This record gives sequence, C-alpha cells and structure tokens, in this order.
Amino acid sequence: MGREIILSPSLLSADFSRLGEEMAALEEAGIKWAHIDVMDGMFVPNITIGPLVVQALRKNSKLFFDCHLMVEKPERYVKDFIDAGADLVCVHAEATTHLERTLTLIEDLGAKPAVALNPATPLESIKYVLPQCYMVLLMSVNPGFGGQMFIPFVMDKIRELRAMIDAAGAKTLIQVDGGVTPENAADLVEAGVDVLVSGSAFFKFPPYKKRHEMFLFLAENRFGQNGF
Ligand code: DX5
Ligand code: ZN
Repeated sequence: MGREIILSPSLLSADFSRLGEEMAALEEAGIKWAHIDVMDGMFVPNITIGPLVVQALRKNSKLFFDCHLMVEKPERYVKDFIDAGADLVCVHAEATTHLERTLTLIEDLGAKPAVALNPATPLESIKYVLPQCYMVLLMSVNPGFGGQMFIPFVMDKIRELRAMIDAAGAKTLIQVDGGVTPENAADLVEAGVDVLVSGSAFFKFPPYKKRHEMFLFLAENRFGQNGF
C-alpha cells in the first residue's frame, strides 16, 4: 500500500480492573498507539475515564496516547488531557462551536490536533480546517459503546475523505472507529484508512501480539485471509 497502517486498540474493551497491566501488555505486543475513549454522559450516554486516569497510565507507558474526547465543549478539558499526557487530542466537530479555535488550542499546547465526525455528519464541516488536522476520525458507529456493527455507508465517506485530503495535498491521517474487525480491515485500508481503532474485536482475542499481527497482515494484504 505504500503507507504505514497503525492499529490503535480501544481501551474501552480492556479490563478496567487491570488497566496498567493491559497497557503494558499492548506495549509488549509491539503496539504503538492506545485509543483512549473519554465519554461525558452528555455528548454520549456513557461515562468513562477522565484526565486523572490518563495521568496515571502515562507514568508507566510509552504508548502514543490517542485521546478521543466524546465530550460536550471539549475545549474546557483540552489542557487537562494534554497535561495528563495525551499525545493526540481528538474533538468532535459536533461538540465544539469554534472548531478552528479548539484545534489551534490543541496544537499550541503541544499535542496533535484531530477532529472526529459522527457517521451522519458531512465531510463539508471540516473542509476548511483539514490542513491543520493531524488526523480525522470517521466514526463508523454512533459513539457511546463498544461492540456495535460497522455502518456500511461510512466506507464511501472514507473514500471521499481520502480524495479530499489528496486533493488538498494534506498529510492528514484517516482513522476509523467502530465495528472494525480483521474481516473489514483490508477494505478499510483500501478505501484510505491509516489508523484502525479496534475495541471488542481486539481485546477479546488474546494473545495481543498475534491479534495485532493478524490485523496488520490482513489490512496490508488483500490476499492474506488464507494465511490465518
Ligand atoms: C465508541 C468508541 C470506540 C469503541 C470501539 O463510542 O469511540 O472507540 O470503543 O469499539 P468496537 O471496536 O468494539 O466497535
Ligand atoms: Zn473511540
């Protein structure tokens, strides 16, 4: 494919009673990114973790912390998450009124700025901020819970975003989150995805090293299915 594919396991499906051990196991498995789902009970119905937990995990982890804020008015918490050790902060376009300002704030505070779109939100809403986005996250489920089914129309949306990025000559990464499995990984990468987020289809299938290798092998090799 000529570009690096990254798997970012979603901690939402990790064992929360042993989060530190789970992080260490990811690192031992050769994984580089950890997808940290932050939910506020307002933007999405669920409530998960906050900056204090991120700070605690940061102490013993060298992973790239990919923090997905499913939070209303995320600009209120950007600094807290970056101080806690977030490497990337991803805010929802639907949740922040002044998206350009929020992305600039993330960048100014020293983290990678990213924007997430719910499945039904048009790509048009990020057209003008694309060059300042390190990454765009396309949600392929309605956010709030792990273990949901991939919404098929998002495949076309990925292709459209890939075309927008290429046309703009931008280097923005495309991340997809929700219902990602080894079965659809190849199609997603072919459509233009750089970063695959996987929660349930990753953590339920240890050992992590093998699962990681399987994801990447299938994602990078159209004809790899028979190898596993
Ligand atoms: C959904 C979260 C996702 C979720 C993915 O609101 O943003 O990161 O945990 O889980 P799976 O891979 O199980 O769909
Ligand atoms: Zn997520």
